[in-house]
Amino acid sequence: MAFLQQLVLVLFLLRLASSATDRFIFNGFKDAKLTLDGTAKITSNGLLRLTNEIHNLTMGHAFYPSNFRLKIPSSSSPNGTVLSFSTQFVFAIRTKAFGTSGHGLAFALSPNPSIIGGRGANYLGLFNQNNMGNSSEHIFAVEFDTAQDASFNETDENHVGIDVNSLVSTVAASAAYYRAGNTSARESISLVSGTEIIAWIDYRSDLQQINVSISPITDPVKPQKPLLSATLNLSSVLKDFMYVGFSSSTGKLSSEHYILGWSFRVNGEAQPLNLALLPPLPTDGSRRRLAVIIAYSFAAGVLLVSVLAATAYAVYKRKKKLSDIMEGWESEYPHRFSYRVLYKATKGFKEKELLGSGGFGSVYKGVLPKTSETVAVKRITQNARQGLREFVAEVSSLGRLRHRNLVQLQGWCRRQNDLLLVYDFMPNGSLDCFLFDDEKAKSFDWEKRFKILKGIASGLLYLHEGWEQVVVHRDVKANNVLLDAEMNGKLGDFGLARLHEHGQNPQTTRVVGTLGYMAPELSRTGKATASADVFSYGAVLLEMASGKRPIETMVSEEEGEMVLVEWVLKNWQGGGILRAMDSRLKGKFLREEADLVLKLGVLCSQAVPDKRPTMRQVVQYLDGDASLPKDLILNSMVLHDDLGFDQLVLPYPHSGLQSSDSSGTAKQFTSY
Ligand SMILES: *[C@@H]1O[C@H](CO)[C@@H](O)[C@H](O)[C@H]1NC(C)=O
Ligand SMILES: *[C@@H]1O[C@H](CO)[C@@H](O)[C@H](O)[C@H]1NC(C)=O
Ligand SMILES: *[C@@H]1O[C@H](CO)[C@@H](O)[C@H](O)[C@H]1NC(C)=O
Ligand SMILES: *[C@@H]1O[C@H](CO)[C@@H](O)[C@H](O)[C@H]1NC(C)=O
Ligand SMILES: *[C@@H]1O[C@H](CO)[C@@H](O)[C@H](O)[C@H]1NC(C)=O
Ligand SMILES: *[C@@H]1O[C@H](CO)[C@@H](O)[C@H](O)[C@H]1NC(C)=O
Ligand SMILES: *[C@@H]1O[C@H](CO)[C@@H](O)[C@H](O)[C@H]1NC(C)=O
Repeated sequence: MAFLQQLVLVLFLLRLASSATDRFIFNGFKDAKLTLDGTAKITSNGLLRLTNEIHNLTMGHAFYPSNFRLKIPSSSSPNGTVLSFSTQFVFAIRTKAFGTSGHGLAFALSPNPSIIGGRGANYLGLFNQNNMGNSSEHIFAVEFDTAQDASFNETDENHVGIDVNSLVSTVAASAAYYRAGNTSARESISLVSGTEIIAWIDYRSDLQQINVSISPITDPVKPQKPLLSATLNLSSVLKDFMYVGFSSSTGKLSSEHYILGWSFRVNGEAQPLNLALLPPLPTDGSRRRLAVIIAYSFAAGVLLVSVLAATAYAVYKRKKKLSDIMEGWESEYPHRFSYRVLYKATKGFKEKELLGSGGFGSVYKGVLPKTSETVAVKRITQNARQGLREFVAEVSSLGRLRHRNLVQLQGWCRRQNDLLLVYDFMPNGSLDCFLFDDEKAKSFDWEKRFKILKGIASGLLYLHEGWEQVVVHRDVKANNVLLDAEMNGKLGDFGLARLHEHGQNPQTTRVVGTLGYMAPELSRTGKATASADVFSYGAVLLEMASGKRPIETMVSEEEGEMVLVEWVLKNWQGGGILRAMDSRLKGKFLREEADLVLKLGVLCSQAVPDKRPTMRQVVQYLDGDASLPKDLILNSMVLHDDLGFDQLVLPYPHSGLQSSDSSGTAKQFTSY
């Protein structure tokens, strides 16, 4: 009997040893046989394209066609011992010409060569609203997520997370990497930059530890310090045999998600990809046409450009050598801090002093050595130097803007490609911390909220009208409203979106904006206007009143996401706009104020810029110096449906449409 048992074991081990394959590598997918579904496709030049840019809820899965043994029986662990595995891949996320993006992609381990029951949009094709958190899914994933979903406790729209049977990540962090040899310098990475990013995922059986790192392809060394590292016992998560692959989805906004190369191995480190063999990303059609025109009509210019480029390179090299020396032009602009002071203030940009990081860069808390004043130092790393001087000119003129509802910019500093901006420190953090933390939201009463809304409105009015030229904020959102010790709301980050738009790299120039806050015309015209700020402010009004994000996950809805303004309008249409109020306020608010804030929010959220009020009107409404037009006719509200390019009139039935205070005879807003 014992002999038989041993024989079985030996046979089993033999089978393990001879098991067909424990690794693969694809430097491009030209002849690769993968199991694809949904929108996933291998393009003619060998790119694995998981989603395309068709505007609809889509998803795509791509799995290696055979499975791998990832778990062996073990006497010490009843559910078996998970083997080490390692993978490396290169991905790129392309957004629409000027756009915001779809939802992101994930590396996944699944019991099937696909993901059954995965849903698009915020579910990344991995789960659906019913099976989230169900341990019988046996899905392990690493997400590269480009949209923020507060209901999954996500903190920003550019993060990497480890997911075990759920999209609420076990651990997550804003996308960034640590440069080789300098494990304290954290460099932000934009996942939607459109350029190639390398990812490494390693699980070690003995340590039960998983590490995840990313790095831009321009810096193709595996970082010594991983972005994410976690101790995970996967023995009850993984089945004995698992398929490996990718899952990706788009929502109402879409992007192209590409994998350029992929290497995987069980029990050892994945073989490094040969980056030189990876297929190139497609150039987009309009750019290609432009390139042809340029090539033909300016052939002579090319020579000139290369001479200029060579000169620029020589100048750049020289400048780089002398980087510690201040350039002449810098002395033209006031409010310059010395780098040494800021370095000291932030204790060398220590991670402990990091207050947060977002699209524009990282923010550190600092104490100025001389005055012991607490400040916030924002560090923006530029990929190239052009535009920096212009930007400094702009920043230092922004430094002259002074208003009690703007976060005061104290000064700036440039060091090599880093731009450092020094702001007043705001002890109570940003508005969304209060609004989307159930504990804090309890004490975040209506009086505070209304005061903050009035404050931001007057700050915006000052930007729009209080200065010789109109200053467009471009990125009004809850995240950019900061709170001082007395809970006064102050707008931060004004003018910074401009820097991004100057587009250091013309390949990736895009309008900066945040999903749900960005006026629809921006994606068409690319031109930021005061009335686009009004649109964003409208989203903040609705958010403060309802306690919901501009685009929220609604579990009961067929689609993954619900646009807040549409929902408020539905309540209004049903005759009970106050039903949209935040339930955590427990009905404690002034009905007139709440009613005003919600209606004004809808008014500001209209797709046609001309129909939105100006900030001056908004301030008058909020101060009670003017009242909303009595004749708001609901079916003439023109809302954008978030398709990015299109707008539509909501097809509401005609009955019961007038607002409760409508006089009925009044003139209509012309329908769009
Ligand atoms: C979106 O997809 C659904 C089903 O996949 C389809 O019925 C619908 O017509 C599509 N909508 C658009 C705007 O393409
Ligand atoms: C991992 O978890 C399983 C239960 O799922 C347990 O039996 C096993 O001892 C754990 N392994 C370690 C090393 O903690
Ligand atoms: C988890 O999924 C299994 C299989 O799909 C199902 O039978 C079970 O009821 C689910 N559990 C929960 C808590 O939903
Ligand atoms: C999100 O985080 C909060 C606080 O950390 C926690 O109470 C809540 O359960 C989390 N939500 C989910 C869906 O895990
Ligand atoms: C994760 O990273 C740490 C620090 O570099 C390293 O010591 C550890 O061995 C790594 N673990 C895995 C699973 O690669
Ligand atoms: C083994 O995994 C199953 C789920 O696959 C789980 O129900 C069971 O509790 C696990 N066993 C132990 C000892 O954790
Ligand atoms: C705001 O910050 C001040 C100073 O740090 C603190 O005393 C106050 O309690 C904070 N308010 C809230 C609501 O957290």
